[in-house]
Amino acid sequence: TQPSASQPTAEIGVIGGSGFYSFLDDIEEVRVDTPYGPPSDPIAIGELGGRRVAFVPRHGRDHRFPPHRIPYRANLWALRSLGVRQVLGPCAVGSLTPDYGPGTLAVPDQLADRTSGREQTYYDEGAAVHVSFSDPYCPSGRHAAVESARAAGWEPVDRGTLVVIEGPRFSTRAESQWFASQGWTLIGMTGHPEAVLARELALCYTSLCLVTDLDAGIEEGEGVTMDEVLRVFGQNIDRLRTLVTDVVTALPAERTCPCPNVLDGIKLPLELP
Ligand code: ADE
Repeated sequence: TQPSASQPTAEIGVIGGSGFYSFLDDIEEVRVDTPYGPPSDPIAIGELGGRRVAFVPRHGRDHRFPPHRIPYRANLWALRSLGVRQVLGPCAVGSLTPDYGPGTLAVPDQLADRTSGREQTYYDEGAAVHVSFSDPYCPSGRHAAVESARAAGWEPVDRGTLVVIEGPRFSTRAESQWFASQGWTLIGMTGHPEAVLARELALCYTSLCLVTDLDAGIEEGEGVTMDEVLRVFGQNIDRLRTLVTDVVTALPAERTCPCPNVLDGIKLPLELP
């Protein structure tokens, strides 16, 4: 289904994380329904640096969806139905290494899924669809993010592995040390299935991780609290918002990455919006 003539459209989607509830000025709000129910909130559409952008707060404006209850499928489907093909996912994460303290910006290139029981596919019946996911993030999006952060003087961590836990609790010290021993560097609760659902819809997806805390396994750390996460996120929200704006402007208008072609030759059991 194409967006109807009267419905506003967008090319870039931003899914805001904890503490990132609004983004655009001069917006038009659209209520989109999807086969997976409504997205986390009505979607705000506006213009930024000449690009049409759609914003949805991942947890809802009032933070009513915990990470394991976020309507991930509806969010990505709704964005695609509005015309979105490139998605930026800013999120709060913990650090699994003392090298990346609170306030660090990281643009991971790998993901490890430790969630359980989340709806993580659109291809549930009718045909077996196995998308490639060896490199879960869009290379062009990552490049735009890293270069934009550098240009803004916020030297980013380029690459790294984000482990996504089921939550909503934080990790034990043993779990945290085990994750770190795998070489994984960042830990969050929402990066999966967001990234894979974007891939299943042939969207570009880039994760922008703001480190809010050192996770429990780092010896000097005292254990993570939600207060700490929200406080540090709040301290960095202005520059994160500026960065997302810069990345929106830096994203290529023409997609030359592999992302648009990931479904080529695959017989899909449903029609994408
Ligand atoms: N989000 C922010 N900090 C986190 C942590 N330490 N573990 C999981 N998710 C997080």
